[in-house]
Amino acid sequence: MTFLFNSDAQRGAIFADVFARQFPELPFAMDPATVDPDAVRYLITWTVPQDLSRYRNLEILFSIGAGVDQFRFDAVPAKLKIVRMIEEGIVRMMQEYVTLAVLALHRNLPTYLSQQRAGQWRDIPQPQAASRRIGVLGLGQLGQAVLDRLKPFGFPLAGWSRSPRQIEGVACHHGELGLEQMVATSDILVCLLPLTEETRGFLNAGLFAKLPEGAALIHTGRGPQLDQEALVAALDSGHLSSAMIDVTQPEPLPAGHPFWSHPKIILTPHIASVTQPASAARAVIDNIRRHRAGLDPIGLVDRSRGY
Ligand code: GLV
Repeated sequence: MTFLFNSDAQRGAIFADVFARQFPELPFAMDPATVDPDAVRYLITWTVPQDLSRYRNLEILFSIGAGVDQFRFDAVPAKLKIVRMIEEGIVRMMQEYVTLAVLALHRNLPTYLSQQRAGQWRDIPQPQAASRRIGVLGLGQLGQAVLDRLKPFGFPLAGWSRSPRQIEGVACHHGELGLEQMVATSDILVCLLPLTEETRGFLNAGLFAKLPEGAALIHTGRGPQLDQEALVAALDSGHLSSAMIDVTQPEPLPAGHPFWSHPKIILTPHIASVTQPASAARAVIDNIRRHRAGLDPIGLVDRSRGY
């Protein structure tokens, strides 16, 4: 029985170390040329390898990232479990980034940065947190963790998911009607949705029109969810005030793309949250133990939902 690590050697070395200490009975390999393919039961990777069918006894395909949209599900035999990465490092970094973004947009940072460059010393009327409504699209582990971290600031908090959820201190919405209700009452909208056929192009002109006048957008989902031209139009018309964007289509953006220099956009290069190898290795070990005990791994993908 072998665990095969198919990603960069630097992270691999950290994984190998954690496995050696915490799961010594499971052989760990990083070079496919050195393993007996029939022994490989677990594989961690970013994309599905071309030669996946070599591993006839594979049981779990782990994504090294939080998303699984880079996997082509039809290239993965149905008997294989696909597992997303849910680990404390990714969760903590997403909490940090979204908190940073919410506070930056709440406190008008894009405007103050522009004013600084223009040599202008001018204050902007500052709404208090209690009147700045935050809406989070996507109430999985990341969405819930982000809302939890935002609680002490006193913003009214809401969240939307496909199916109903209950979270203390958060107005939870679901379904089509719930989406309309939440979007219409979100002064800062945060997108943490997984990329699926249903969420492609989700952040579009129609949705922006439903946001309150002066609302702001934080996008940490996936690039193809955002209609970039529609965002620029909504910012230029003044309907939206600002945006903080971490994911784009394509990545990186081409030179000259309006996001690079738009005064109302803060752009970061897909760094909101990154898998932390030591905690990720522990999460994977826990999941293998769960699987061996007959339990579902945490982050098990439902292929019919796409995440
Ligand atoms: C990053 O976007 C990830 O999927 O981990």
